[in-house]
Amino acid sequence: MNYPTTLVKEVKQRMNNRPVEGFVAGQGSLKPKIMFVGEAPGKNEVENHIPFSGQAGKELMACLEGLKLTRADVYITSAVRSRPYRVVERINKRTHEKEIVYPNRTPTKAEVFAHAPILDYEIAKIKPDLIATLGNIGLQRLLGKDHTVSKNHGQLYVGPVLELNKQKTHYEWSKKTYRIVPLFHPAAIFYNRSLAPLIKQDWEILDTLINDTRKGSSE
Ligand code: URA
Repeated sequence: MNYPTTLVKEVKQRMNNRPVEGFVAGQGSLKPKIMFVGEAPGKNEVENHIPFSGQAGKELMACLEGLKLTRADVYITSAVRSRPYRVVERINKRTHEKEIVYPNRTPTKAEVFAHAPILDYEIAKIKPDLIATLGNIGLQRLLGKDHTVSKNHGQLYVGPVLELNKQKTHYEWSKKTYRIVPLFHPAAIFYNRSLAPLIKQDWEILDTLINDTRKGSSE
């Protein structure tokens, strides 16, 4: 999606020089069957400007394929649109020389808050029939701390979401009602293979919900 330049500038200012790099816009259909909200881009995404184009992206694409969907049918974004990194000094095992590396890290609450105008803008533009959050960061950005993936995955939530107030100084509950399905982050399977059956079930639920939405919109 093309964002107004003033919006991107505003978010960069709100970030106040936090350790992040690049900027990856949300991507996909502007009339999507579903909107996905992830965490933040990683190295691959920042290089090629395509959300979920690394290892986690492969998992996400496989799940979409299972529902006979492609990137073109959906809209994919994240709570944060730049790559949060850590600065790690270490000894290179091959050269035995000191080096500094910049691995990905989870975005902080302050970074999610700084980027909030962008997600608010995307939701207002797209007016999604259905949102699936991928992982706790996207879920808690929209529904707050009381919701967790381990507790709420695969359960449809219908109600308001957190959005910035007019002055953009804090979150408040939206007047509008949304349909949200919390899902595990696609990378979760790399750390815990035993999640596979739960993830499969959640995507089956999502399939039913997407098809209900389609039926509803054609009636
Ligand atoms: N993880 C995310 O949450 N977003 C991406 O774009 C890539 C990985």
